[in-house]
Order: sequence, then structure tokens, then C-alpha cells
Amino acid sequence: MAEHRRAGIEVEDLVREFKKGPRAVDGINLRVEPGEIYGFLGPNGAGKSTMVLVLTTLLPPTSGTALVAGFDVVKEGPKVRAAIGAALQEAALDPFLTGREHLSLQAALHGLSRKERKKRGNELLERVGLTEAADRRVRGYSGGMKRRLDLALALVHRPRILFLDEPTTGLDPQSRSALWEEVSRLARDEGVTVFLTTQYLEEADVLADRVGIIDRGKIVAEGTPEELKAEIGRPSVEATPAEGSERDAVARVLSRFGDEIAAQPGAVAVRLDHGAGDLADVVRALDSEGVRVTNLRLDEPSLDDVFLEKTGRSLEGDAENEREPDGSPEEARA
Ligand SMILES: Nc1ncnc2c1ncn2[C@@H]1O[C@H](COP(=O)(O)OP(=O)(O)O)[C@@H](O)[C@H]1O
Ligand SMILES: [Mg+2]
Repeated sequence: MAEHRRAGIEVEDLVREFKKGPRAVDGINLRVEPGEIYGFLGPNGAGKSTMVLVLTTLLPPTSGTALVAGFDVVKEGPKVRAAIGAALQEAALDPFLTGREHLSLQAALHGLSRKERKKRGNELLERVGLTEAADRRVRGYSGGMKRRLDLALALVHRPRILFLDEPTTGLDPQSRSALWEEVSRLARDEGVTVFLTTQYLEEADVLADRVGIIDRGKIVAEGTPEELKAEIGRPSVEATPAEGSERDAVARVLSRFGDEIAAQPGAVAVRLDHGAGDLADVVRALDSEGVRVTNLRLDEPSLDDVFLEKTGRSLEGDAENEREPDGSPEEARA
């Protein structure tokens, strides 16, 4: 048992294929150490939710093995379920129940006594900042409040491992950082192991100890955010021409310093062959060609650069296009 207490997540050659569908999870190997926050980062359709459903025993794998808290997700489902908490993307909150009622029901499901239910409910409402809204119906909650209630519900039975499937998708930046704060606190102060999926680079970068970048069911890169960015190494420079018509001229000058990479609309960017030291030469070259720029920016490598390098596509662009409207009260769950 002591061994299991210390167990995190161990996944070997995991595959989940859908009938008439893709191999949503296509041979994943990974390990999450106890107390670690692991960020599973990828665009829509990458296989993130399928992975979480398999690890939480809600979907059987096609092949491969997964141990969660030391238990096999196929052979020891009940033990896995007792050890984990999950806030899933399709989590169903009842619009006609209050936050407090949700917590009380969840606590009853986990076998807590009436007295314990009340105490645990109050504790969790306080922790996720819903004390004042506790007796209001969930119907009137904002997107951020619903996600915080999901988190509280997942924590009722004090799980050792927590699964969060895109916990902040569609949230405004403030609600997002509030949730990050709470998740880091859980890992730091209570030793909870966290497996979190996200399509936000910043979320993986800020929150995760280690990141697995997933694309089309496969891990294309893995490491700490620092390691991943260091793999890319060299910074890039982005220039915005003063006139739209000068874009080609800017591109011609910049191309002497490195390969072109994705840039903001209207701008041109290259990865600098020789690093930041090139910047002064870039400025001189633009000046001697008589090209005027309104903005010139040096960027350190980001996780998006890692994704771009491994897949040829930009993750950031995807996420921007598919971002949901920010948390209005009537917002539907993703
Ligand atoms: N129940 C299902 N039946 C068939 N295909 C599915 C099913 N669920 C997901 N898929 C497909 O599997 C791939 C991965 O989906 P998903 O795990 O939901 O990705 P993500 O959570 O990263 O957006 C997608 O191509 C999706 O269309
Ligand atoms: Mg998903």
C-alpha cells in the first residue's frame, strides 16, 4: 500500500482506436511522478480527452497498459477510481442545484457522513472562492465559477491524483490565473499529482513541471518547459513594415539572417541563425535598404516554436481560432 501511495501515472504503448474513427491515442508512453503537474498540451482533436477518459477508467484502451496510483486501469478500475478525482470537459452540472447542493451530493456519493459532508463542503467552497455564491443555483454561475465548482467536486474525497481536462478553456485571464493558483497549491502543499490537458501554451508553461506535446495521438516532444524551449535554442526577430507595400522588402532583408517563421498578421519573422547578436546587423541592413519598420521585436523561443518545429503547424493559431467566448453566465460547457 505504501508503494501505491507514492505511485503516480505510468503509461506504456497506450492505444485507443475508435471504430470508424482515428487512432485517437496512438502509442503513448509517459510517466508522471507523484506530486508532479504534468501538462498534456495539444490542439483540438489531438487526443487529449481520449487519453484522460482512458486514464480515469471511463474508456477501455485498445492496447497497451496504464497504471494510475499504482493500479491497472483495466483490471483494477474501482481502486483507480477511489484514488483519483476528475474534472472532465463534459462534466454535467445541474443548473437547478446550488453549488452547496452539488458538493453535498458528491460527498454523499463518496460515503461521507452528514456532518462530514457539511464540513468538507464548506471547506471546499471557501477554497475555490464560492462561499458567497454557495446557495445560488448553478444556472446563474459564470464559466469561471462553474470550472471552480468542478474542481471542488473533484476534490471531495481527497484524491491523490487529479485529472483536469482543459480546465480553463474559454475563461477570461483573471479566472484562469485563479485556477492556476489553486492547482499549483494542491500540488505544492498537498502533494497531489496533477494530469492536466490544455491547448494553451502559457498554461503549460506557467503551471506544468513537465509538458508532453501531443499531436494526432502521439507525443511529439516532452520535457520541462525550459528544456523544450532550449531545444529550439535561438531567438527570433519580428519586424512590422511601416507600409504594407514594404512587406516583401522587409522579408528580403530578414531572410539574410535566418529562415522565415510564422509572424503576426502584417509582420515578418525569422529565426536568427546566429542568435540575438544578429539584431544590430538586422537594424543596419533595414536602414541601409531604406526600409522603415514600426516595430522590431526579439522573441525568445516559446512552446509554440517547439510545436511548430515538430509538426510544421502553429498551435497558437489553432487555439486562437477555436477559443470560446469568455465566461458569460449562460455559456455552455465545452
Ligand atoms: N467517441 C468517438 N468516436 C469516434 N471518434 C472520436 C470519438 N471521440 C473522439 N474521437 C476522435 O478522436 C480524435 C481525438 O479526440 P479527442 O481525444 O476528443 O481530442 P482533444 O481532446 O485533444 O480535442 C479526434 O479526431 C476525434 O474526432
Ligand atoms: Mg478534449
